Amino acid sequence: MMKTLMVVSGGDAPGINTLIARYTMLAQAQGDSVVGAMGGFEAVLSGQFRPIDLSMVRRMEGIGGSYLPSSRVPVLAEENARAQLRQTLQDNEIDNVVLFGGDGTLRYVLPLLLEWQIPVAAIPTTIDNDVAGTERTLGFDSACNFAYQTIEGILATAHALPGRLFLLETLGGDTGYLALEIAYAAGVHAVLVPEYDFDMNWLADRLKQAVIRDSFALAVVTEGVKTLPNLLEDIPRLTDTRLRFSRLGHAQRGGQVSHLDRKLATEMAHLAYETFKAGQPGGALMVRQNQLLIVNELVTVAHKAPPDKSLYSHVNDLIDH
Ligand code: F6P
Repeated sequence: MMKTLMVVSGGDAPGINTLIARYTMLAQAQGDSVVGAMGGFEAVLSGQFRPIDLSMVRRMEGIGGSYLPSSRVPVLAEENARAQLRQTLQDNEIDNVVLFGGDGTLRYVLPLLLEWQIPVAAIPTTIDNDVAGTERTLGFDSACNFAYQTIEGILATAHALPGRLFLLETLGGDTGYLALEIAYAAGVHAVLVPEYDFDMNWLADRLKQAVIRDSFALAVVTEGVKTLPNLLEDIPRLTDTRLRFSRLGHAQRGGQVSHLDRKLATEMAHLAYETFKAGQPGGALMVRQNQLLIVNELVTVAHKAPPDKSLYSHVNDLIDH
């Protein structure tokens, strides 16, 4: 019988509950057990584990958030905490670990488990899609879908009351992958991300032209754009039009789990379980060329390339697209 520990570390994302449910179904059907840490690595260090309640997590599998509480406290920064982690895993007879986390977790915790030869399935989990080595993180697709619902709502008023300027802020941390994907797929008039500079006069002119042509203008900005406060002041002044601002905030992280995230979570659960059953060392579960792979080279040491410049140019109608 195999005993798996699940740990959620860092920001939650839609799809975590689906994966916990799928994996636990597979394991329980084979007589294996699954326990969860009740608060990231802080909880692991203090031995706070609980068996996964399958009927409960199945009821949550279509919604965002996480059945297992997470933590952002970097408790493993100290050498003695890392030694304690190794000991705790041993004392609790943990055979393998399913580890949910973003770039930081994959960069610092995954190598430890691989080095200690504890089989691991590290799940790149973040709505930001900013993990190097994978095309798609768990939660990204759902967070895009959440934004489209809001955009549809804004467009209803935009068409009903012509002549207005709208600005929608997405989450995304200090990266623009999420905002750019949304802006491109929603066909908005402009997108602003921290990786690429923009000129305020250019933006004002672009939004003004959009109002003349389309009767409204909608731009998407990600929260990491430092000049947002200036923008909220300058755009109304330069365009002589009031700017209506909407912020998705944390609601974007907690929406319904999309079809693609449910499917990805299901495939990840199968790959993780099969890897453990086959006695393999595991690694990070990465999507490459649309295929899910388990990778144990330390890909996460690399930084992810900036968001696709050609998409950015396409949305903003810049000369080089
Ligand atoms: O997990 C990524 C993310 O949702 C970012 O998009 C956002 O900036 C950040 O987490 C918010 O973090 P917290 O919930 O700790 O405020």
